[in-house]
Amino acid sequence: MTVALPPGPRPLAVTLGLAQFRRNPAVALERLARQFGDVVLVALPGQSLVLVNDPELIHRVLVVDHALFTKGRALQTAKRVLGDGLLTSEGDHHRRQRRLIQPAFHRQRIAGYAATMVDLAARWSARWNDGTTIDLADEMMRLTLAVAGKTLFGADVENDADVVGETLRQLMTLFDILTLPFADLFDRLPFGPSRGWRESRRRLDAIIYRLIDERRRSGDGDDLLSMLVAARDEHGAMTDEQVRDEALTIFLAGHETTANALTWTWYLLSQHPTIEAALHDELDRVLGGRLPTFGDLDRLTYTRMVIAESMRLYPPAWAIGRRALDAYQLGDYLVPAGTIVLVSQWVMHRDARYWPDPLRFDPTRFLPEAVASRPRLSYFPFGAGPRICIGESFAWTEATLLLATLAQRWRARLVPGHRVDILPAVTLRPRFGMRMTLSRRTSAVGSGSH
Ligand code: HEM
Repeated sequence: MTVALPPGPRPLAVTLGLAQFRRNPAVALERLARQFGDVVLVALPGQSLVLVNDPELIHRVLVVDHALFTKGRALQTAKRVLGDGLLTSEGDHHRRQRRLIQPAFHRQRIAGYAATMVDLAARWSARWNDGTTIDLADEMMRLTLAVAGKTLFGADVENDADVVGETLRQLMTLFDILTLPFADLFDRLPFGPSRGWRESRRRLDAIIYRLIDERRRSGDGDDLLSMLVAARDEHGAMTDEQVRDEALTIFLAGHETTANALTWTWYLLSQHPTIEAALHDELDRVLGGRLPTFGDLDRLTYTRMVIAESMRLYPPAWAIGRRALDAYQLGDYLVPAGTIVLVSQWVMHRDARYWPDPLRFDPTRFLPEAVASRPRLSYFPFGAGPRICIGESFAWTEATLLLATLAQRWRARLVPGHRVDILPAVTLRPRFGMRMTLSRRTSAVGSGSH
């Protein structure tokens, strides 16, 4: 077999393309894949990048040969924010932590969190007013932040909500800068942690350690933090520091992604009234005006398909990067040691070979027979392999219950003239937010307020 370097743009084209790459890396990657094919080499000064856009090869990188890659240098910087949590750890340490934490995400645990999710969404619904204009992106972020806070730390955190909320906002800003998928390439990391950040971090640590201490003493509780504190394996329990790192990681990894999925869903529904009507039909039929429960999820099939199709067009995690430890043979090509291999949900989910008429929003693409007809990794919003999102079931439950609770009562319409564009940061955000006007559904069964 011949083994050659993958095709790709010439050095001058790479240099000229850098500005576009920075402005919108997702679209830049999409162009490269359309122009050069399933494996594209971008030789940047000091760092090569290979984009892989074939379901079988993506499976090789993320699943079969995962041990031949690391998560790369950007991770070291993310560690400064998140410590050594699940998202940033590697090797044996990652394996152990993953096994310890997995039970906190079992089905019956998530069923327990469902009531909290619905309760918070109902509170949001009760606060919304007919005819008002809000930024749905902000609103969804606040709601999923509340869900993460409550499920992770339980009721206690409400007393500390301001400090926790403010500190986490700061942390997230920093996290943003440090973990851009291309931070490695663009070397945007000039600073050490600023004084303000260190101070916030200290305050947040004090709160989290206090909560951990309370859990250790009381020995019960059904929030995620209690699970982390109670987790044991043959080496014993986690240290307080490990619990803190894992808690922070889950908190940060867990809410912005779901918020974005919901924001894009509101946007897509506003543009497709027929699909919105079909969603309302299902919600009215299954729920008859009452609040949803975990037990309803199996019957909210169209709701779930709407969310799946929304994450196809606007995948909250839009690219995953891995660094090749050694030279690696990928299909017919050679990937040099040290290269960053990128797989992009944004690019794959819009590939017409697997998604005919890719820009059309069509939830029926997720009918079971349609799903079965496609290669598995033509759709991977949660990644794949040993590092697949540990919160996937949590996220499906949350997104479905939040959308069901809110869309049962409300529709949202884009403010005329509001610009919609993507901002591919750590997650895929709406660049200009999502200004929308709310209107109460009058036809909802039993349409009193929640
Ligand atoms: C729509 C919502 C979500 C999306 C699209 C999403 C996507 C992802 C993806 C793609 C990865 C893999 C990254 C990689 O392979 O490098 C990941 C990992 C992770 N996610 Fe999620 N996620 C979501 C929600 C959540 C939630 C709700 C939680 C927790 C409550 C969570 C916690 C994590 C953690 C801890 C990891 C690291 C897992 C590991 O490396 O072992 N995520 N997520």
